[in-house]
Amino acid sequence: MKCPGVWKMLMAAVCVALLSGLQAQDHPGQVSIILLGATGDLARKYLWQGLFHLYLEEVGKGHHFRFHGTALTSTEQGQEAIAKVLESLSCPGDMASGHCAELKAQFQQLSEYRRLKTPEDYLALSKDIEAQVEHEGLRETGRIFYLSVPPFSYVDIARNINSSCRPGPSAWLRVVLEKPFGHDLHSAQQLAAELGSFFREEEMYRVDHYLGKQVVAQILPFRDQNRAALDGLWNRHHVERVEIVMKETLDAEGRTSFYEEYGVIRDVLQNHLTEVLTLVAMELPVNTSSPEAVLQHKLQAFQALRGLQRHSAVLGQYQAYSGQVRRELQKPDNFHSLTPTFAGILVHIDNLRWEGVPFILMSGKALDERVSYVRILFKNQAFCVQSEKHWVAAQSRCLPRQIIFYIGHGELDSPAVLVSRNLFRPTLPSASWKEVEGQPGLRLFGLPLSDYYAYSPVREQDAYSLLISHIFHCRKDSFVTTENLLASWVFWTPLLDSLAHEVPRFYPGGAENGQLLDFEFSGSHLSFSQLLPEQLVPGPDSAPLPSDFQVLTAKYRDSPLISAWPEELIARLAGDIEAAAVRAVRRFGEFHLALSGGSSPVALFQQLAAGHYSFPWAHTHLWLVDERCVPLWDPESNFQGLQTHLLQHVRVPHYNVHPMPVHRRQRLCAEEDQGAQAYAEEISALVTNGSFDLVLLGMGTDGHTASLFPQSPAGLDGEQLVVLTTSPSSPHQRMSLSLPLINRARKVAVLVMGRMKREIAMLVSRVGHEPKKWPISGVLPDSGQLVWYMDYDAFLG
Ligand code: BG6
Repeated sequence: MKCPGVWKMLMAAVCVALLSGLQAQDHPGQVSIILLGATGDLARKYLWQGLFHLYLEEVGKGHHFRFHGTALTSTEQGQEAIAKVLESLSCPGDMASGHCAELKAQFQQLSEYRRLKTPEDYLALSKDIEAQVEHEGLRETGRIFYLSVPPFSYVDIARNINSSCRPGPSAWLRVVLEKPFGHDLHSAQQLAAELGSFFREEEMYRVDHYLGKQVVAQILPFRDQNRAALDGLWNRHHVERVEIVMKETLDAEGRTSFYEEYGVIRDVLQNHLTEVLTLVAMELPVNTSSPEAVLQHKLQAFQALRGLQRHSAVLGQYQAYSGQVRRELQKPDNFHSLTPTFAGILVHIDNLRWEGVPFILMSGKALDERVSYVRILFKNQAFCVQSEKHWVAAQSRCLPRQIIFYIGHGELDSPAVLVSRNLFRPTLPSASWKEVEGQPGLRLFGLPLSDYYAYSPVREQDAYSLLISHIFHCRKDSFVTTENLLASWVFWTPLLDSLAHEVPRFYPGGAENGQLLDFEFSGSHLSFSQLLPEQLVPGPDSAPLPSDFQVLTAKYRDSPLISAWPEELIARLAGDIEAAAVRAVRRFGEFHLALSGGSSPVALFQQLAAGHYSFPWAHTHLWLVDERCVPLWDPESNFQGLQTHLLQHVRVPHYNVHPMPVHRRQRLCAEEDQGAQAYAEEISALVTNGSFDLVLLGMGTDGHTASLFPQSPAGLDGEQLVVLTTSPSSPHQRMSLSLPLINRARKVAVLVMGRMKREIAMLVSRVGHEPKKWPISGVLPDSGQLVWYMDYDAFLG
């Protein structure tokens, strides 16, 4: 069975109808499945059983199979190990034992062990498959290579498959890979590029076993089959929050060599929980059974995820963990690991459907129970007049309303889909889902089980069996494509980097954790609910804590300097801007604020967006200090940064937003298009005397400010208010307010953050007025005020 693309499907359907009967009769097809790592843990626990399940499902349908278990161990040892596994295989409960025994014997006969190590071994395997197919008068349909091996061996194996073990041109190849797929964006890109040099995208099946969990696999069909009820509900107006949770009681003992490198975010959140998140959040394709459409919509969901900040996460580590690492990895007695074994993350999705809805992702080892679920809690905007004793579960709008995709374990101890009775009666395929029988006294998420319509699978199936069947049936949407994988790493890597030195909160494990790990959110900040007086183990270095310092007020270049740790500094600057705005609006009815781009102001924008409810946005005009000559929608555009981090969260009237006209007549910053002049005219028309109420500047490591660069005279003096300039770094073409215009402002704030700025901050503190060498030194408001905002890293180093 080839996996057709959508456009090929129609043709293929016709051809298959015409040919398959003929071919199947003349030369039945054979699929060879080669399981690498066939004696390993995963193979023994799940994969052989999954293959047997596939065989049971498909053998009556005219397919022939051969199973080649392979590993690096000797033939004798391997055969022995495999024989044991094959003996332990089981049939579904409803199959007659005689029939089961017969099929099991067939399966055992069709399965062999062989060592697969050298290129010659791969070649020999290929030749054997060809010879056997010919000998039995079959035709080769395809080969599945299932790599249940450590990822460091992927590339060698891929090379061998590609060079010596591809099937002939009329048969397909599918290569199945198990996580981890990289450690961060860079390593994932590298691995993807290497694999991509051996296999085509459609040949690769990256497994995330959560996509094979029955309830997870049911999320899209459920959304599809209940469109009528969900259409109005599945959005920010009705959903209060979404929780995606995997709690475990087991710890990482015995696996610390893997776990030390990965930790809970890479092990569970980046893959399992993110996959589930996209299934909940994505726009539902018209045709949910089209893998292409599903994958495409998933990718769009990734693109709408708001970037995570350090404060989007809380981390924990069970107390025994470091000891286990010391023992298993022979570390010295004073070794303390920072690897998190617990994480809570707050995710926001910046699109019309989900804006403002918190998605909470949580997973941890050594917790009080084992359970995984997705809980969609709906807002309750009802007021019930009658007393609670008259509320009826199926009708009362005042009872909590929620949908739970109960992935497994927990109090219910089986996968299930639960829908509050006061929401709607869901539709699930009746052949495969049945109503859960009542369990008196059982309460789930605050309600008795009887308050839900609850459905569980008629026949429970483990994730690997489902996925192996989906591999065989080309259900690509149950796997992780390269694009989706990289999109996930794009999302997670910055957070992982920023948390690399974070000390997790230590927890005892199990029920004793009490409320220690409870967390709560406010805006986009997540924090533990309980404050702890101190950590039990110190961090990797004894850097001073923010609380060791007060906000420092001093002078810098004869102007006021405010210095603090980044968060306090930003809070102070945001407060000062708001105060200036309120003053200006009170006096003049409007506030003209000119903002710089780049990375330093991002935190400021976020602070203004999240915490300043009295800011007079309706009377604020926003101007750009400078702009890169790229289209406004380009991620490099300063306007785009402003849009993402501020504009889309506050209510500034559209006509008060003044992007720089760098893109006119489909050209970027062409002199003859007179964009600079046009901006100058707009400023002159709206800003009294061209005097901004506040200009926010930054300072580059070369002493540049706005887009005024050393050794480039444009904009340093003269009459022009707005100029085109050239930056030494790309994109080179820029538009910028000129120094004379900046200096007309009532107030100029210069924000300088980070250790990288330390040297230039020191240098500029000593130099005089030399704008040609250091444009920042030319910032000296004619009659306004200049204030420097520097964090301790920039100021004290
Ligand atoms: C794996 C992780 O992918 O998923 C493990 O590596 C975790 O750390 C496991 O325990 C959980 O899967 P399940 O199917 O038991 O929920």
